[in-house]
Amino acid sequence: MDDGKPKFAGKKLRVALIGCGGIAQTHLNAFKDFPEVEIVAGVDINPARLKTMQEKWGVQKVYSDWKKMLKEVQPDAVDICTPNGVHSAPAIDAANAGCHVIVEKPMAMTPAECQKMIETAKKKNVKLSVGFQYRYHSNTQFIKRAADAGQFGDIMFVDCKALRRRGIPNWGVFGQKKLQGGGPMIDIGVHVIEMAHYVMGSPRPVAATGNVWTHLGNKASSVVSQWPNWDYKTYTVEDLAVGHIRFENGAILHIESMFAGHIEKDVWNFNLTGTKGGCNWDPPAVFRDDAGTMINSTPSYVGNAKDFPIMFSIKLRNWVDGILKGTPLTAPGEAGLAVQKILDGVYRSAEAGGKEVTIK
Ligand SMILES: NC(=O)c1ccc[n+]([C@@H]2O[C@H](COP(=O)([O-])OP(=O)(O)OC[C@H]3O[C@@H](n4cnc5c(N)ncnc54)[C@H](O)[C@@H]3O)[C@@H](O)[C@H]2O)c1
Repeated sequence: MDDGKPKFAGKKLRVALIGCGGIAQTHLNAFKDFPEVEIVAGVDINPARLKTMQEKWGVQKVYSDWKKMLKEVQPDAVDICTPNGVHSAPAIDAANAGCHVIVEKPMAMTPAECQKMIETAKKKNVKLSVGFQYRYHSNTQFIKRAADAGQFGDIMFVDCKALRRRGIPNWGVFGQKKLQGGGPMIDIGVHVIEMAHYVMGSPRPVAATGNVWTHLGNKASSVVSQWPNWDYKTYTVEDLAVGHIRFENGAILHIESMFAGHIEKDVWNFNLTGTKGGCNWDPPAVFRDDAGTMINSTPSYVGNAKDFPIMFSIKLRNWVDGILKGTPLTAPGEAGLAVQKILDGVYRSAEAGGKEVTIK
């Protein structure tokens, strides 16, 4: 993709934000520490968000239509932070306009959308990255180093959990299937899947089974919780999704993802078992046999990339360096597509009553 020409030598990378809501604020905070980046425009359909762009972030060029913005501002790159149903269209338009793209997770609503985004980026020779920050998390990097060093042997089984006892987002459109594509599986399960799949070496998924349930989200909240009063009247997604993925190399990934349910506490974790060793993500640990003894190893230090500001800074740095220096993307469009195929397989199987479906 890199044609070798130093396009940005001596000038700033002109980035436009498309979607200026909640998570865009975390992006803007991270970009404050990027001297080589200038935020040149903001796009949102909500005028209050555009006002914040102007008043808080000093971004004077604001638009309600990304097509108009692309034409008038001609940014070098766009950062897409809109709801899931509004990821692929601006990404494709921006790539067609010659802009590099980073898109928040999940990459889009369907594998077909992801495929089109990848093809357009390739055709236009622009970088396409997906906002999978958990692969930059220090625990993930610790496990990835162990995997790459062969400490697990062949990975056979990965058990993933993204569970909230009562954590239905009470902002945005997270409960609306037509705008988000689904509930906890596509919104939070995606994070644990993306880091586990990365650690596994990105094997090709070939089949999935899945089941989903809705039992609390479509009713008014009846208990005290951290995010009360979600919009239960428009709630059309699942509360709980369970999926089982088979990969080409024989490995299995199990995923449980929940916005609301009756569990002791929230869980955000994966553990894996391989022919030579296993591990746990949180707390980070590696399990192996050594000199006739079963050993549990815990790192004394893994790094400080454990909270949103640091992880987001690293993920945006990876994208910006990919554009400016040609360094490899850690979460390219292809990684987003593979994860989307997993999510899609779970949902397709659930629609088919839990029967196994093929992933192409
Ligand atoms: N990486 C993470 O950890 C993380 C965390 C939260 C959200 N996200 C992702 O970021 C995206 C946005 O989530 P959020 O929490 O910021 O939601 P949000 O509702 O706070 O923000 C979305 C913004 O997009 C705007 N928008 C909607 N349609 C638009 C359109 N057609 N054109 C321009 N703007 C439009 C909305 O008005 C809103 O301001 C989602 O895809 C979500 O999955 C990622």
